Amino acid sequence: MALDFTAEIARRRTLAIISHPDAGKTTLTEKLLLYSGAIRSAGNVMVGKHKATVSDWMAIEQQRGISVSSSAARVEYDGYLLNILDTPGHQDFSEDTYRTLMAVDAAIMLLDAGKGVEEQTIKLFKVCRDRGIPIITFINKMDRPALSPFELLDNVEKVLNITAVPMSWPVGDGQDFRGVYEREDKRFHFFERTVGGMFKAPVTIADVHDEHIRASLGEKAHAKLVEDLELVEVVLPQFTQDDFLHERITPVFFGSAITNFGVENFLQRLIELAPPPQGMNSSQGIIAPESSFFSGFMYKMQANMNKSHRDRIAFFRIVSGKFERGMSVKHFRSGKEVKLNYPFQIFGQDREIIDEAFPGDVIGLSNPGVFRVGDALSTGTDFSIPQFPRFAPEIYAKVLPKTGSFSKSFRKGVEQLGEEGVIQIFTDAHASPIPLVAAVGELQLQVFQSRMESEYNEIINLERLPFTRTRWIGGDVLPSSTTLTYAFDDQGRRVVLFRSEWEMNYHQEQTKGLILLEKPPEEQIAAG
Ligand code: G4P
Repeated sequence: MALDFTAEIARRRTLAIISHPDAGKTTLTEKLLLYSGAIRSAGNVMVGKHKATVSDWMAIEQQRGISVSSSAARVEYDGYLLNILDTPGHQDFSEDTYRTLMAVDAAIMLLDAGKGVEEQTIKLFKVCRDRGIPIITFINKMDRPALSPFELLDNVEKVLNITAVPMSWPVGDGQDFRGVYEREDKRFHFFERTVGGMFKAPVTIADVHDEHIRASLGEKAHAKLVEDLELVEVVLPQFTQDDFLHERITPVFFGSAITNFGVENFLQRLIELAPPPQGMNSSQGIIAPESSFFSGFMYKMQANMNKSHRDRIAFFRIVSGKFERGMSVKHFRSGKEVKLNYPFQIFGQDREIIDEAFPGDVIGLSNPGVFRVGDALSTGTDFSIPQFPRFAPEIYAKVLPKTGSFSKSFRKGVEQLGEEGVIQIFTDAHASPIPLVAAVGELQLQVFQSRMESEYNEIINLERLPFTRTRWIGGDVLPSSTTLTYAFDDQGRRVVLFRSEWEMNYHQEQTKGLILLEKPPEEQIAAG
């Protein structure tokens, strides 16, 4: 039976997993997919990172074992529909990550039980806090020697300044990790390993003094568990949904993704805790998901996802209204009507045409070259999204084709990868044909170089330039010095490039009335 519009919204959850590389994000995503039956075993997508993975597909990712591009996965479980948006793990991709986090309503913070909160987790956590996204914590790898649960909770609280409330409690760790205790229903979920190391269905036990628990843990470990659980109930703060939604607390779960211990318990609670699709802050105020008109925005572009589909994909988050294939929508930046004939759901390298979608969903739209990250589409009100993240680059290089010819494929590669946000493109103020590429981190340039070669057949040399600071000019006053370097961004706005913070401050002081901006002028205005 088809659900009505409000029920479709209510059953959706749109999330991202934030973690430090190697904490187990790929493994957890795959295991969550497994519960929905979404992993197709025949050839195309299989469990296991080194076969064909769900979310990593590019050559550079396979070589380096990192995830640099964001895709989306969908998990159906118990009547709920989870959209899990992949965030790149590497720090140089913070720009991409920021954008993906614009499109979710909650985040799963994944920690390694042996390490606790790591550097990249701290950065991503801050982004979630800035955006007001509630965070659910999963402490992974409990099957390995781990810090004690109390140490882990304390670590989260001290480093991230958020109260950590355990919703489950691990029973043992490392070789002795036996399962989890669910505080809500006061039940133990025991797991058993099989020869292949995989789990057997959990045994659920309601009483901590049960013989099965005592016997399988041994007297000493059992006594410790009883003591710990008493302490947890007495000493630790209570969970409330309101505190969670306002990021005052993070609910914490323990488990082991690789052995599946605790993963299904986590999934069940995740769908209850995570909020349904939220309204979005736009230039016209909050747009509610239940609004009668269709609307949404592009949070990511990706070219060449699949060699057999050589096109550009815009990842689009639906904010309000029902999406129907073939509908005409307005693209506000260009003022054009666009007909959305081939929307699809993305699944690793595969794509499936979809006929309808609802708020919270992410759909792939083929980009004929008009869409940019941050653009809005709607059948109703005209709006834009303030504060769509954009960063001032700190690394610059000239791009030179090895052949010496600025061929069509060279220009196309630079343009498309710029549009995707792999790097930012600037043109030099003297109208030279040599593009300047700019990045926030080093790896971005390497990815750009490698993708120019593998996808556009263009070997390029990057000639590094000595600039480290980029500033847009806010008013009519230009720096008084004639020796500075100017360039234009992709929208033709003038920027000044400085070698150092010192040089920038010097010119700021020397020129009266000079307004130097860290972001392009209208984004500043829109951000208020
Ligand atoms: P990432 O996407 O966050 O970078 O992490 P990924 O899932 O790739 O996991 C990183 C490594 O940690 C992998 O091992 C993976 O098997 C392992 N791992 C993930 N979850 C668990 C867990 O719950 N327990 C244990 N013990 N290990 C876990 P690898 O040796 O790098 O790769 P592989 O050859 O095993 O695939």
